[in-house]
Amino acid sequence: MPHATIAELFASQPIDTIVTVKGWVRTLRNDQFLSVSDGSTIRTMQIVVSKEQHGENTLKRLQTGAAVAATGKVQKSLGKGQDIEVICDSLEILGDCDPNEYPIQMKRHSLEFLREKAHLRFRTNTFGAVFRIRHHLAFAIHKFFNDQGFYYLHSPIITGSDAEGAGEMFRVTNLNLDEIAKSGKVDPAEDFFGKATNLTVSGQLEAELAALALGRVYTFGPTFRAENSNTSRHLAEFWMIEPEVAFNDIMDNMDLGEACLKYCIQYALDHCREDLEFLQEREMNEDKQKPVDERQSMPLLERLNMIVSNQFERITYTEAIDILLQSNHFKKKKFKYPVEWGIDMQSEHERYLVEKHFQKPVIITGYPAAIKAFYMRMNEPDAQGRETVAAMDILVPGIGEIIGGSQREERLEILRKKCAHFNIPEDHIWWYLETRKFGTCTHAGFGMGFERLIMFVTGMGNIRDVIPFPRTPLNAEF
Ligand code: 4AD
Ligand code: MG
Repeated sequence: MPHATIAELFASQPIDTIVTVKGWVRTLRNDQFLSVSDGSTIRTMQIVVSKEQHGENTLKRLQTGAAVAATGKVQKSLGKGQDIEVICDSLEILGDCDPNEYPIQMKRHSLEFLREKAHLRFRTNTFGAVFRIRHHLAFAIHKFFNDQGFYYLHSPIITGSDAEGAGEMFRVTNLNLDEIAKSGKVDPAEDFFGKATNLTVSGQLEAELAALALGRVYTFGPTFRAENSNTSRHLAEFWMIEPEVAFNDIMDNMDLGEACLKYCIQYALDHCREDLEFLQEREMNEDKQKPVDERQSMPLLERLNMIVSNQFERITYTEAIDILLQSNHFKKKKFKYPVEWGIDMQSEHERYLVEKHFQKPVIITGYPAAIKAFYMRMNEPDAQGRETVAAMDILVPGIGEIIGGSQREERLEILRKKCAHFNIPEDHIWWYLETRKFGTCTHAGFGMGFERLIMFVTGMGNIRDVIPFPRTPLNAEF
């Protein structure tokens, strides 16, 4: 008999039918009520067993974590907390789980502890919820773009270019490192690709090439950054969504970013309600242990509803700096880093703007050219002659930057000057420059950090807890 998932059984409620449930034991109460989880939903199925029918020895083996198959008739449940249960006829233990060794017990484990047990943490309610939501958000992204006529583009993982120019790349090589250590010489021409290559930091440059023919494209893949920042918002391997649209300008780009974020959040509200409710509850319990000023001002679901039903604030970088300079926070010297026009805003500045000042998502445009990547379109100098680019960052409460993007420099001569300025040899990105030579046009795009989106939707505070196996400095276990 094919077995149904617990989610399917709760949905179809097949009263009086014989079904088989397969999953992992959570608890056994009174030697009678077995609660089984199979990952299809946060809910567990109650399986009613008895010593008489299944024997004392079998019941003893129903330890937390054991894999079981239970067959029996579905009935309306009289107990609280579930509407159906399975009156177990035959019970098979598929895999025992020794409680003296199994680290995931039915008690609260800290997230730090569970990170060390990342191979088993899927079995907890928290991580079950997070990874189901991660799936739904990935699906929502594809649906959002597909419904708007975007094509999904697979940009290369191995590349010779540094799109962001930040130099934070993982080198890819099959040269013999031991021999290099002995000889002290590296010759990229001898390497697999005949040149130096790295894991991609962004699929943007390739997405631009495709957008200038296919019109609307997006990438959705892993990206890699060897930045040595051990924060709760950075990973060395993270997933990024990068839409790129021909004929879009910076205003269209902001609209697309805001619409995309709101769509994903609404999708989660519509499809992940039980998991979100669980995570909301969890967050409230965690908050009780925290000082009052560190607690969430609103429960998770309320926060998400607020985001989808309100317009994001839109300000320029210059306005943002003015707000910071005029804040009491600044006057009382509470910022750790300096504030003045030209700075690359630190996360404390961004969080002040979204969490304290506006208390909602903010889109900042018009950043100083000097702190942004070479490909961003130059604006006319401002009244004071300062150079800015048509960049945009979308900041959200609790996270800071979730989206970074720009209108692209489509004017060949200006782009060539930017390359020279940023020390990017033209023969490294001749192909990129050629698109500006052959039918160039206005275009724009952005990158959204997928894990930051998941953090935002789930309320999880550490990015290591929203990706199955996080890669961070000094950590590549599993
Ligand atoms: O702002 P970033 O560096 O922009 C780009 O890579 C552009 N090429 C995007 C584009 O215009 N197509 O990165 C985009 C987003 C950030 O806003 C952030 O959400 C996320 O990617 N991100 C990271 N997420 C996790 N760990 C890291 N180390 C991240 N670095 C960036
Ligand atoms: Mg950025």
